[in-house]
Amino acid sequence: MKQQTIYVCQQCGAQAPKLLGRCPECGAWGTYTEEVVGTTNNKQKMQTIGGSGAPKLLQDVESREEDRLDMHNRELNRVLGGGLVPGSLVLLGGEPGIGKSTLALQVLMQLGEKRTLYVSGEESTRQLKLRAERISGNASNLYIMSETILDNIIEHVNRLKPELVVVDSIQTIGKAELDSAIGSISQVRECASALMHLAKQTNIPFIIIGHINKEGSLAGPKVLEHIVDTVLQFEGDQHYMYRMLRAQKNRFGSTSEIGIFEMRQDGLREVNNPSELLLSNNNDALSGIAIAAALEGIRPLLIEVQALVSSAAYGTPQRSSTGFDARRLNMLLAVLEKRIGFKLPQKDVFLNIAGGIRVTDPAIDLAVLAAILSSNMDIAIEQGICLTGEVGLAGEIRQVNRIEQRIKEADRLGFKKIIIPDGQKVELPGTKIEIVPVRKVSEAFKELIIRK
Ligand code: TYD
Ligand code: MG
Repeated sequence: MKQQTIYVCQQCGAQAPKLLGRCPECGAWGTYTEEVVGTTNNKQKMQTIGGSGAPKLLQDVESREEDRLDMHNRELNRVLGGGLVPGSLVLLGGEPGIGKSTLALQVLMQLGEKRTLYVSGEESTRQLKLRAERISGNASNLYIMSETILDNIIEHVNRLKPELVVVDSIQTIGKAELDSAIGSISQVRECASALMHLAKQTNIPFIIIGHINKEGSLAGPKVLEHIVDTVLQFEGDQHYMYRMLRAQKNRFGSTSEIGIFEMRQDGLREVNNPSELLLSNNNDALSGIAIAAALEGIRPLLIEVQALVSSAAYGTPQRSSTGFDARRLNMLLAVLEKRIGFKLPQKDVFLNIAGGIRVTDPAIDLAVLAAILSSNMDIAIEQGICLTGEVGLAGEIRQVNRIEQRIKEADRLGFKKIIIPDGQKVELPGTKIEIVPVRKVSEAFKELIIRK
C-alpha cells in the first residue's frame, strides 16, 4: 500500500494537496488537517457490491419484500419503510446524549432469539451490561464487544455471523493501517466503506451510530451520507422526554415517515399515538393556548402551541420561541400588526411548542397567531377547536397539504371544530367534526374567541 499525505477539511471532506486556511468547498475556516492516506490497489477498491456477473433482465431478478428484518418496534419499522433490508447499512445520527446507544441496544434486546452483535468503541462490556440492565428485553442471543479496530470487528462478524450488527460509533473505530487519527474524515470514510462492503458481502444489516457536531450536521464527512443506504436522525430536546426519528435518506423507503419515542427510566418507549401525549390534558381553559392540526412528515399530529404576551419590562421587547422558527414568528407578528391592526409594540412575546418538539410544518402558523392573540387579550380559546393554515404576508390563509388526514386526526381525538383554509373543505363520511373554512386571519379569530 502506498502512503500519501493530504489535507482534508474536517467539515465537508474536501481534499487539497496543501494546507488551506479557508475551505473553498464549504467556506469554513481553519478546518484543514493533515491526514495520511493509503492508496490501496484498485482491484480491491473496485469489487462489485452484491453479486456480479453478466447483465440480467430486470424482470428475472427476484425481489423479496418479505426478507426485511422485523425490528419488533413499530416506530422504527415505520421509519425504515417496513423493517431492515438485509445487507443494508443504516447510519443513526444524533447529538450526544440524545439516546442513540439506548435505541440501538434496545432494538437488539427486543429481537429475542435472533443472534445479534453490539460493538462499542465507547463503552466497556461492563458499562454495556449496566445499560442493558435498565432496559427491558429478553436478549438471549445478543453478543457484546468493546472494540475499536476495524479488522477485528470484521473478523468477529465473519466468525459469529450475526443477523444484525450495531457499531457504536463510527467515529471511535479505525483502520490500523491508516495513520490518520481515529475520528478523522479519512478514518470515518474508510471504515464506513469497509462496513458497507462487509454488509453487502455477508448480507448482514448494520446500524452504525454517528455523532453530530454542533452545527447539526453529521460530524465528519458529508461523504458518509453518500456511502450508507439509510440515514436516520434521532432528535429532540434533552430536557424533554420526546424523541423523533426521521429518515433523511432511505434507499429502501420513503423519507417522510417519522417515529416518535419517549425516553423513560427503562429505555425508550414507542409512542404510537403521539397527539394524545402532545396535548396536555388540561381541562381549564387557559389563555394563550391554541391547538394546531399539524403534520410531521406524513404523520398527522395535534400540537399545543403556547404563547405568552406581556408588557416589556425594559427597552426593547423580547421575542423568543422554542420549537418554532424565530424568524417566522417575527414575520407573523408583522402580519398581525400590519394586516390586522393589532399592535404589540411594547410587548414581550414568548412562544413554545409543547413537548419540546420542533415543528417545521407551516400549517401551524394560524395556531401560533391564535395563541398570541388569546394571550394578549387574556381570553381563552374555546376547548375542542383546532386550527390549520399557513399565513401569507397579506394576512391571507394559504392552503395546506393533506387536509383530509389533518381533519380525520382531529375528529379521531374528539375535536368539535377545525378551522381550515378556504377552498379545502372536504366531505369526510363518518366524521362528526365541524369544518370551518376561512380566508383571512381576522375571519379565523372571529371563530375562536369566547366573548366574555
Ligand atoms: P445514550 O443512549 O447514552 O445517548 P447517546 O448514545 O445518543 O449519546 O442516552 C443518554 C441519556 O439517556 C442519558 O442521559 C441517560 C438517559 N437514559 C434514560 O433516561 N433511560 C434509560 O433507560 C437509559 C439507558 C438512558
Ligand atoms: Mg452513545
